[in-house]
Amino acid sequence: MVELNIPSPVQYIDSINNVNLYIKREDLIHSSFGGNKWRKLKYNLQEYKDKNHKTLITFGGAFSNHIAATASICNHYNLPSVGIIRGTYEDENNPTLNLAKENGMQLYHVPKLEYKLKSDSSEIKEIISNYPSPLIVPEGGSNELAKTGVMEMINEFEEEILFDHIIVSAGTGMTASGIIEASNEKSKIWIVNVLRNESLEKTISNGLKVKKNNWEVLSSYDFGGYAKVPNELKQFANNFYEKYQIILDPIYTSKMMFATLDMIQTNKFTEGVNILAIHTGGLQGIEGFEYVTKSNWIIK
Ligand SMILES: Cc1ncc(COP(=O)(O)O)c(C=O)c1O
Repeated sequence: MVELNIPSPVQYIDSINNVNLYIKREDLIHSSFGGNKWRKLKYNLQEYKDKNHKTLITFGGAFSNHIAATASICNHYNLPSVGIIRGTYEDENNPTLNLAKENGMQLYHVPKLEYKLKSDSSEIKEIISNYPSPLIVPEGGSNELAKTGVMEMINEFEEEILFDHIIVSAGTGMTASGIIEASNEKSKIWIVNVLRNESLEKTISNGLKVKKNNWEVLSSYDFGGYAKVPNELKQFANNFYEKYQIILDPIYTSKMMFATLDMIQTNKFTEGVNILAIHTGGLQGIEGFEYVTKSNWIIK
């Protein structure tokens, strides 16, 4: 059985401008599939078991945290996994895909146009047809089962402390949706749109089963969008590490934490409030970043 650090720790890290800052360390749930990945896959794995599926098939880009984490989780539970990868270029040195392969994931590279169509693409249909009784998990693991898992992230601490503000990064917005649905309406949820996803607000709003107004998308902290990592952000992540010994990833959590500290420093919050920033993990992506940029992310 896999050892998981759940409930994940809520760590008080600082008081700045009389605002108390805490971090929920989802990254510490597990060394290779911590972060929101465990939350999103937990009930998908339950579904796999309950419905007696025979292979887990999912989708992702060449540096996808979701692909890496799914391969690792499936390996731990001894489940066959398949990754359908966006783009036909096969780079044998890609650290994310090598990790996935080491964890036994069978990879298929498909053209970007086919990838966009997902299970409607004839090429992808053919791949899937090779696997009897598959469980198809969407890109990023983002489905309703994922949301149920994410809701547990909030339910596990809310009885102890009510945070005035909760801040989380968003790609598809499914993690944020789970947090909104599970949240106490006295908490305000700030969603950092790190990928410049133009339909994020609409996607979240349409997907909420329980309509709530205690949330807001922040669109000014994407640093140019997906995989755009300017030096300012890298410098920020290094300063943050030096001060708090917490590593942030380049794509999601560094932008989320930058937004948090910027809002605190520009007095967007009233004095005395408690803020919870969610560290959603993604640390495997650092190797990919370093591989692509040929530079260190955190200089220790
Ligand atoms: C580390 C990390 N944080 C946050 C997110 C955003 O999650 P969501 O797609 O549910 O918005 C992702 C998505 O893949 C991620 O890998």
